[in-house]
This record gives sequence, C-alpha cells and structure tokens, in this order.
Amino acid sequence: MSVSVSPPRTPTDALPREETGQRKEAPECVRLVQLTDLHLFARPDARLLGVMTRHSFEAVLKLALSQSVPAGALVLTGDLVHDESAEGYRSLRQALDSTGLAYYCIPGNHDSPPMMETWLGAAAVGAVATRRLGAWGLVFLDSTHPGRDSGRLGDARLAALDRALSVDRSPTAIFLHQHPVPVESAWMDTMAVEDGEALLAICDRHPQVKAVVCGHIHQELERQRGGYRILGTPSTCVQFTPGSVDFAIDERPPGYREIRLFTDGRLQSEVVRLADYAEQANQAEAG
Ligand SMILES: [Fe+2]
Repeated sequence: MSVSVSPPRTPTDALPREETGQRKEAPECVRLVQLTDLHLFARPDARLLGVMTRHSFEAVLKLALSQSVPAGALVLTGDLVHDESAEGYRSLRQALDSTGLAYYCIPGNHDSPPMMETWLGAAAVGAVATRRLGAWGLVFLDSTHPGRDSGRLGDARLAALDRALSVDRSPTAIFLHQHPVPVESAWMDTMAVEDGEALLAICDRHPQVKAVVCGHIHQELERQRGGYRILGTPSTCVQFTPGSVDFAIDERPPGYREIRLFTDGRLQSEVVRLADYAEQANQAEAG
C-alpha cells in the first residue's frame, strides 16, 4: 500500500525565520498542543456514543489552531482511529498535514500500529522515541499491550527510557497513552499502565522530567509528584465522568491540552474545551 502525501514536517520547519533566511532568536517558549482519543472512523459521519468523532476532532483542531501564538508542534496520544480503518488514518494524515505543523503520534489500545506506520509515516514514532522541541526533549512511549485495554511498558522500554534520560538532561516532557497512576475511577483504573509505578520511579530519578502526559482517560487529570506533573487530557470527542465507579458519560464538551515549554525549564499547561458543542454523548448508545 503506498501513500502519496509528503512526509510530516520536522519541528525545525516550524521555527520562524527572518526574511533574510536567518533564524530568529529562539522564542522564550514553545507552544505544544496535545490532542487525544480522537476515535475516528472510516465513515466521516460515524458516531461514537452519539458523537460524530470526525466533526468534533475538526472543531477541536480548529480551536487549537486559532490561538494567537502559533503552535510549535502537535502531539497525538493514541486512540486515533476507532475502527482500525485505512480511511480513518488517511483522513487523519490529511487533516494533520493541512496544519503545516510538525506532529507526533503514539498508539492507544484502539489503534493499529501497522496502519499507523503505513498512513502516518515517520510521525508514527517508535516504542521509545525522543525528539527535540526548542530547548526541550520530548519522549514518546508506546504503552499499549496487545490484546488488552490496559497498558504495559515492560522492562525493555523502561530501560530504554532510563538510558535516554541519562544521556539528555534537557527539560523533558514524556507522553504515553494509558494513565500511569490511578484516577480514582474503578472501571477506568482497570485499564491503567500496569507498571506505571516503575515508570514514575524512573522519572523520580531524573530531575529534568517536568511532566508525564497521558490520554486514554477521556477526562482532565492533574497531579504533582516531586518535581513533575502527571497530566491527563479530555478526548476530542466523548468524555468520561471523573471519579465514577462504573462507566459514565460526562457532559463536558470536547477539548485539548495546551502545553507551553519555556527555555528556562518551566512548563505551563491547561485544558481548553470548545465553549459549547451541539452534539451530546449518549450513554444509551453504550449498548
Ligand atoms: Fe479513548
């Protein structure tokens, strides 16, 4: 299967240049946009729990791109396509390419890694991948565990992370799909990263780690652990109710996460949601 679209751009393409061709002085901060749990389908009008996911993703992406400070890159933290369809991934590639930004994609439990490699190319980063964005290091972890909705990193990936963090002491943000800590929601916590504590123990030993950022939970999460934050982000489609023992739909609208990475190592972050969104998720359609 061949892909005719051009390769994703690298982060350096997104940095501003003077008209003379000289690069401008590095900005004080780089703005990163996290989009997660898109759950796209082959059919553009397909719905997940009553929400047309292609439409809600496009609305959230438009909101993220409308901010006054241009984004430096997009990070997509899994559950990109719900039905593992080529058309789902092809349409995602088209939407992301149209932004002109660098973007990075990691898989969730609903994704097909081979399809991601085919349709997203180099943007489908490897199991433990490192990238630079301004003064920062970005680390992407594949936390998926084939055949399961819970996550698992395993000894080899954890060791690779430890090595990467030992080599590069730049301020670092780490991204993965499943949540590495319980979110106090019993049904959701059966699907956490099984060895999440081992991941955080490594982060504890590397003070340059400033944030561990996940998707999967379809809700906002913010915790502080030592010198870094553990952040979770609403889905671009359906939200789950925080603190619920059983599966429950939250009526809050779709959104994304803003992450500002300052050259001095500070990190600012906030969740941004659509002000109002006409389509409501419907628990009756959970089946
Ligand atoms: Fe999801």
